[in-house]
Amino acid sequence: MVTQIDDTGAISTPLATPERVLRIRGGNPLRGEVTIGGAKNAALKAMAAALLTEEEVVLSGVPLLADVFSMCELLRALGASVDLDLERKRVAIQARQIVRTDAPRELFKPTRASVVVAGPLLARSGEVSFFMPGGDDIGRRPIDMHLNGFRRLGAEVRQDGEGMIVARASKLSGAHIYMDYPSHTGTETLLMASTLAAGTTVICNASAEPEVVWLGHLLNRMGARITGLGTQIIRIEGVERLHAVSDLVPPDRLEAGTFAIAAVLTGGEIRIQNIREDLMLPITEKLREAGGDVWHRATEMLVRTNGPLNAVDIQTLPYPGFPTDQQAPFVALLTQAHGTSVVQERVYEDRLRYTDDLIRMGANIKVDRYGPRNESLATTARVTGPARLHGARVTALDIRSAVGLVLAGLVADGETVMNEIYHVERGYEEFVSKMSALGGDVREDVAG
Ligand code: EPU
Repeated sequence: MVTQIDDTGAISTPLATPERVLRIRGGNPLRGEVTIGGAKNAALKAMAAALLTEEEVVLSGVPLLADVFSMCELLRALGASVDLDLERKRVAIQARQIVRTDAPRELFKPTRASVVVAGPLLARSGEVSFFMPGGDDIGRRPIDMHLNGFRRLGAEVRQDGEGMIVARASKLSGAHIYMDYPSHTGTETLLMASTLAAGTTVICNASAEPEVVWLGHLLNRMGARITGLGTQIIRIEGVERLHAVSDLVPPDRLEAGTFAIAAVLTGGEIRIQNIREDLMLPITEKLREAGGDVWHRATEMLVRTNGPLNAVDIQTLPYPGFPTDQQAPFVALLTQAHGTSVVQERVYEDRLRYTDDLIRMGANIKVDRYGPRNESLATTARVTGPARLHGARVTALDIRSAVGLVLAGLVADGETVMNEIYHVERGYEEFVSKMSALGGDVREDVAG
């Protein structure tokens, strides 16, 4: 199921292999134990942070995911030596020299997280050029806040006719930066850029997502001077240089939440190992409201269902609000809840398109659409349940909608066949084997 890679971690097959499909047969409650891997959205940024120093950055507990392999390739192209130990899930990155500051388009494109190399490159080399990053198809995803932040730090930023963005500054200078919205990667980009700026930077309306906080602590361990992490105002005193660090990537709260939702949805019982209880609250509160039982002990939690599910309203918000990345899996659960749940997607402008597939599977979902001709964008869905779902051919649109559709398939009659399955591999480590070990009938196959 995992993309083919050689023993250095280099990708040897294309990420997208459209012929491959996941076949999901519904009916089995998920039971057993699952161990959560390292957080993708923490690992990728820490890998980019290695560009800020000539010394070695070593990360353990790195999830073996397509997006991580893409980041390895990108860092290598920029001049870093990247040693990915697949057995030990450990990556050692050393950027003694930056050999180029123009990020190769084909390596920059596969994932949104590529954008976080821009801050370190600009800070260390005084220049960066790149094309808009790719990633998920969940609405327009501008990077104006990243670029405005660069400008505030004294960089000259322009976009050429072909869409290439170029930022230059002989030396970044500390500044007050106000962000219109607490952008997750925007905060990370500016946090990294300002660690080496002259003087003090204040990021106002910063993101408090746990992965941002972890990155900030990692940077401090590299010698940065950052305070206010986890609050809306982060202050960075610039330093001359950063140094080596080694750290363990924190557990993926989104992977943990997905298995927790799956336990409640399928009427099963899953012991989820390697979690941080405090970070799970936004999801566990909603699971309890829906009728799930959740117990915590140290770094594990037990999740199961106790009777029928209740309709629950959710609105996605920046942390500590309900995570947008759990919206699609949770909607799969709401299709089986009694009553009507109102789901408001308030982070992305177009992250409900996968509901078309759920509707084709028999879900009762009404989506309010808007847009210039009232034709496309949707931010509110009303989900009425319980609906009897049946298998269908569905298409993964992004990482999270992909697993949402798999979850729906687990409670549908018959077989669900999902294509574009590389989305799953971008974000969920050993997903099929973890699902199978819990009794879920999910397997990879070729279309036919
Ligand atoms: N936005 C702007 N301008 C900007 C930046 C963001 O308008 O300059 C808008 C976006 O278009 C979006 C909203 O602000 O509507 C939130 O975007 P944000 O920048 O916070 O998200 P992101 O940094 O692009 C990261 C994760 C996402 C996760 C969000 C929210 C990574 C690589 N990606 O994206 O993860 O949904 O934060 O927590 O860290 C995923 O893992 O599947 C995923 C999509």
